[in-house]
Amino acid sequence: MNPGTRRAVVAGIGSYVPDKVLTNQDLERVVDTSEEWIVTRTGIHERHILEDHLTTSDMAVEAASRALRHAGCPASEVDLVLLATVTGDYVFPSTACVVQEKLGLTNAGAFDIGSSCSGFIAALSTGSAFVQSGTFKNVLVIGADAISRLVDWKDRNTCVIFGDGAAAVLLRPGFGDRGILSCYLKSDGAGCRYLYQPAGGAKMPPSLDSITNRLHYIRMDGRETFKQAARSMTQAAFEALKMAGLETTDVDLMVPHQANIRIIQAAVQRMGLPMDQVAVNIDRYGNTVAASIGLALDEAQQNGRVTAGDNILMVGFGAGLTWGGIVLRWGV
Ligand code: COA
Repeated sequence: MNPGTRRAVVAGIGSYVPDKVLTNQDLERVVDTSEEWIVTRTGIHERHILEDHLTTSDMAVEAASRALRHAGCPASEVDLVLLATVTGDYVFPSTACVVQEKLGLTNAGAFDIGSSCSGFIAALSTGSAFVQSGTFKNVLVIGADAISRLVDWKDRNTCVIFGDGAAAVLLRPGFGDRGILSCYLKSDGAGCRYLYQPAGGAKMPPSLDSITNRLHYIRMDGRETFKQAARSMTQAAFEALKMAGLETTDVDLMVPHQANIRIIQAAVQRMGLPMDQVAVNIDRYGNTVAASIGLALDEAQQNGRVTAGDNILMVGFGAGLTWGGIVLRWGV
C-alpha cells in the first residue's frame, strides 16, 4: 500500500427499511407456497414492504439522512448524489434529483445508476472514481429499491424472494491506507432475458395488451440466474481482491448481495471463506436489490462487526447480467 494515495473513504453510513413486514405465512395466503419451501430454497423468513403512500425516494432520503448525520456532513457540502435504483419514482427525471431536492442538497449534481442488484457496487465504484480523481469531495452514494412495486403477486417464482429497502454511504477523500482499494465491474448483456421487466420501456410502452398480459412485472429464469450468480460472485470476489493486492485470507468480512442463502453459501464455499466471516441478513429482508449490500454493511457496523483497518469485500450480482466487487478498508 502507498500511504498518501488519494482514495475514497466511507465517512458515514445509514440504512432504512419500511415498517411493514410480510412473513412467509402471509405469503402462504397469497400464492401456492409454504414457509418450509421458502426457507429451505432461499433462507428468507420475512421481508419489508413499502407502504402505499411512500415511494423509493422516501426510503433513499431516510437512509441518506442517517449517513450524512453519521458523517457529520451538512447538506450544503454534498457535491454529488448517485442513486442506484431500478424502481425510481418516475421513468424520468432521475430519483437522485428528487432526493437532492428533498434533502436540500443545493450544491450537488445528481444522477441515477440502473444496475439492479449490483447497483450499489456500480454506484460506489463511480463515486470512488470521482473522489479519487479529485473531481468531487463529498459524494453521497445511495442504493434504494421498492421492488415490491414490480413484483407479480400471482407469481410464486418471484414474489417470495424480494423486499424493499435503502442504504447510503458518504464518500470523502482520505490519504492514508484506508478506503476503497479496488473496484471490479463486469457485465454480459447476452443474459438480459434471465431477469427483466418486459414492458414499460421504449421497447414495449404501456398498453392495454401489456397490462393484460402482466408484462410490467418481473420475469425471471430462476435456475439460470442462480447458476450465473454463484459463478459471477466468486469471480468478482477474486478479481477485486487481486486488484487490491490481497488474498482471501486477508478478508475480515465479506458482504455479498443477499439474493439467496444458497447462492451466498456456494460463492463463499468456492472462495474458501468461513461463513462466520460473511454478513448475512437475507432471513429478515429478502433480496432488496440495490439496497442489499449497503443494508448488510450498515447492520454489520452497527453490530460492531467492523473495526478500523478491516478489509471488507463486497460482491454483487444482478440483472443485465451485471456483477462486481469492491475491497474497502474500513475507517477514515
Ligand atoms: N413455493 C413453492 N414451490 C415453488 C415456489 C414457491 N414459492 N417457486 C417455485 N416453486 C416450484 C417450482 O414451480 C418447481 O416445481 P416443479 O418442479 O413442479 O416445476 C419447484 O418448486 C422447483 O423449482 P426450481 O426453480 O428448481 O427451484 P429452485 O430450487 O431453483 O429455487 C429460486 C427457485 C427462485 C428460489 C432459485 O432458483 C433462485 O433463487 N434463483 C435465483 C434468483 C435470484 O436470486 N434472482 C435475483 C438475482 S439478483
